[in-house]
Amino acid sequence: MTQAEWARDLARQLLEKPLPRRWAHTQGVAARAASLAPILGDDADTLTAAAYLHDIGYSPELVDTGFHPLDGARYLRDVAQADETLYRLVAHHSCAVNEATERGLFDDLSKEFVPERPDLMDALTYCDMTTGPDGRHLNVAERLAEIHSRYGPEHLVSRSITASTPCILAAVRAVQAALEQH
Ligand SMILES: [Fe+2]
Repeated sequence: MTQAEWARDLARQLLEKPLPRRWAHTQGVAARAASLAPILGDDADTLTAAAYLHDIGYSPELVDTGFHPLDGARYLRDVAQADETLYRLVAHHSCAVNEATERGLFDDLSKEFVPERPDLMDALTYCDMTTGPDGRHLNVAERLAEIHSRYGPEHLVSRSITASTPCILAAVRAVQAALEQH
């Protein structure tokens, strides 16, 4: 069984029934990850696994702090005994450090989870930020606008996305440049 297959089964078990739309998004993000094989080589399986797992922290089965990157990463580390690369990617996906700061969880996130290799972090952020909530492909501007309109201007997630926007755009640009070079 590949890492991606293992991750897909775990994510399906945690998301499909309680959160079908989140599961649709997850499958779209995983498909984007698999499509980066030309630039990721052997790391494509790991990235696809991380894509399947990136939002499991929303599953009612494992919500704890309510900050899904941290809840998901802790579950992967402590319960699922996942590979370290996977939980580090999940902990920091899509520039999560900004939302951690908004939630007063910066120390928890950064002390427990060291960020992964920048190219893998950028790739996961790219996949998440170019996939809509129903799993369809969006460009990054559409995706950012979609998040703002879904949460509304006062919401903590909207403020966090505003703070994360330079980081998200840099990640998307880095992956696009790698794809163009290829
Ligand atoms: Fe997420």
